[in-house]
Amino acid sequence: MLDPDLLDALRTARHVVVFTGAGVSAESGIPTFRDRLTGLWERFDAASLATAEAFRADPALVWGWYEWRRSVVHRAQPNPAHLAIAALASKVPKLTLITQNVDDLHERAGSLDVTHLHGQLERPRCFQCQRDPDAPLPVPDEPEAGRRVQPPACAHCGGPLRPGVVWFGESLPMDAITHAFQAAEQCDLLISIGTSGVVYPAAEIPEIAWRLRATVLHINPVPGPLHGERDFALASAAGIALPALLNEAFAEH
Ligand code: APR
Repeated sequence: MLDPDLLDALRTARHVVVFTGAGVSAESGIPTFRDRLTGLWERFDAASLATAEAFRADPALVWGWYEWRRSVVHRAQPNPAHLAIAALASKVPKLTLITQNVDDLHERAGSLDVTHLHGQLERPRCFQCQRDPDAPLPVPDEPEAGRRVQPPACAHCGGPLRPGVVWFGESLPMDAITHAFQAAEQCDLLISIGTSGVVYPAAEIPEIAWRLRATVLHINPVPGPLHGERDFALASAAGIALPALLNEAFAEH
């Protein structure tokens, strides 16, 4: 039985923000960043792969690594957590979905209007002139991680395309972070799913909601510290907790 105050908060919320991190895609087989042993930053050096300096130094190594990540996502499927989030949108008056993830599994699960704070694997742009390519990227082949792949050339200026993700040391898209902060300020309930909450400014979003008197729910097998009132945690995998939460909150009585 879930906490009745949490169920009531979900049933009566006028505006729900769902804020996701890599953990929401873990059950789809997409590696997270900081999980012990399996996280990407446990196995790869972020500084040599996820920075503009790294790309400038070795474009083929960085582009190849992101093509590997794109191929992992392409072979994956949305999991019950993504599907439950898509279903939640039709059960509450207003839902704003904010993700730190660069995969497209929320969209493939049926969620509309997804705000990507850290960019998207499928949206590269020219490293030199910043323009978007005229055509979408081809279906990725299956390079193993670490194989060099030359980035395509920009059709406008001939410069190399770069992954459309926010690298360490780069600022987030202003429209995305502004939209996310406004939604956090206005919502009655924020559900934070599968994030370690260590990367700012994204990690500020649940804090803003809580400070402005929203109820906050953290879904994570390894929950972090709670404020006490109006702050809940389900120490569970998202693919288990979210369907259970929706069933209990919205099952026809
Ligand atoms: N369901 C829910 N949560 C899960 C699951 C699961 N099945 N599996 C793992 N988790 C949790 C982990 O306990 C961890 O707290 O997901 C979280 C993943 O944390 P990170 O790997 O740090 O990912 P994230 O919080 O999204 O990282 C934020 O850091 O490197 C940057 O740009 C990158 O967007 C990323 C940002």
